[in-house]
Amino acid sequence: MQTDVSDVGADRRLADILARVESSLADDLLPVEIFNDVDVFQAEIERIFARTWVFVAHESEISKPGDFVQRRIGLDPVIVTRDGDGGINVLSNYCRHRGTQVCQTDQGNSRFFKCAYHGWTYANNGELIGTPFMQAAYGTPLDKRQWGLLRAPRVESRSGFIFASLSEDIESLDEFLGGAGWMLDALVGMHPDGMRVAGPPDRYHVKANWKTAAENFSGDTYHVPSLHGSMGEIGLAFGLDAGGEFGRPYEFENGHAFLGIAWTEQDPQLEFWGYPPEIKDSFDLSGFDESQTRVVTHDGPIVGTVFPNLSFFRAAAFDGSGLMSVVTSFRQWQPVGPGELEVWSWQFVWNFQDEDSALQDATIGQLQFGVAGVAEQDDTVAWEGAPKAGASAWARKEQMNFHFQQGNFSAIDQSPDPAWQGPGIRRRTGFGEHNQLHFYRHWLHEMQEQRPLNGPTS
Ligand code: FES
Ligand SMILES: [Fe+2]
Repeated sequence: MQTDVSDVGADRRLADILARVESSLADDLLPVEIFNDVDVFQAEIERIFARTWVFVAHESEISKPGDFVQRRIGLDPVIVTRDGDGGINVLSNYCRHRGTQVCQTDQGNSRFFKCAYHGWTYANNGELIGTPFMQAAYGTPLDKRQWGLLRAPRVESRSGFIFASLSEDIESLDEFLGGAGWMLDALVGMHPDGMRVAGPPDRYHVKANWKTAAENFSGDTYHVPSLHGSMGEIGLAFGLDAGGEFGRPYEFENGHAFLGIAWTEQDPQLEFWGYPPEIKDSFDLSGFDESQTRVVTHDGPIVGTVFPNLSFFRAAAFDGSGLMSVVTSFRQWQPVGPGELEVWSWQFVWNFQDEDSALQDATIGQLQFGVAGVAEQDDTVAWEGAPKAGASAWARKEQMNFHFQQGNFSAIDQSPDPAWQGPGIRRRTGFGEHNQLHFYRHWLHEMQEQRPLNGPTS
């Protein structure tokens, strides 16, 4: 087999960029070109998204046999189905005959998917069950298993969150999540009935790089007073500058990180993020360990990112007329291109809530954190700068770096909290940019294909 000269050139170029990332990260800096580079993006799709565990759906979205949702793993469209046996399947949405997408809708309920092109039909577990004119065209039936839809070889769930990996050779989901799984259990497990999606996700395109969004949600408390300050001025939010002093970053293995806030140190009424009494009184933490109880009662995360592209948000929010809800959203930063992502944003509600209460939470969540949400507009406009800088001939010529030097170069003590009993690392200030650096160090680790995976790297 001949090696294409252009492939060698691209590999060399990518290796040079990653070497520069490595040396920059040693100084808590990051080269601009990784936010808008075709070779970097292609390698992310192959080395990260086609290999690691990627969130694909919440179990509440496919609760009944036949339910399906159309999702993505990197750039690949996949169908996530609940088959007749109750099993969960993550199937490639490319017909094995000529590649037409066999499922053209975002969600629904069906026992089969029929390709529109020539009519091959697949069961909702992926098996090929029908080929038109089979006798006349082929003479004998095609092997149903051999010609079924491609299946993600690994599919596992944690606390209702379904993840898939396109690589057989990967640790279990629980091992991959580590402390982030422990945190997810706490965030959605404060009532034994758990949480569900309030509806399908909002989806919208942003001219930003997926990493900027994931990094922001890993714990960028620094931007809040500046970028979201206007939300405080018009009464949609409070305590916007508390995240620095009261920030409590949590850092887990494999690039996962969350940012808690010491809510009750500011105001005892902010126990459980400030949930109203009728909700708070229903919580049941009997299955929690001591650290989980402490976290959700006093130091609950406002944001978090499960590497690579699933993020969490929970905070008190207002509708502008005095109604307040504590809203929960999960969002996924779908890579589209080096300088473009698609945001998928779900509002979550508690299963024990009555309809009115759930609707209020979902509505206020969408008002502020949905497609037209105030906070989203603040964030997404700001994020558009990084890929523009990354594409700038001037910035590249100057080998411009982004600045992540609040941490190891700061005179402030940001060492891990020695009293922390939970998994991973916890710090006692929201400043430091440690979570963001942790995300990028793991990103580099994956891009340089340095498996097996390791623990917190910073
Ligand atoms: S492409 Fe699907 S049946 Fe031909
Ligand atoms: Fe923000």
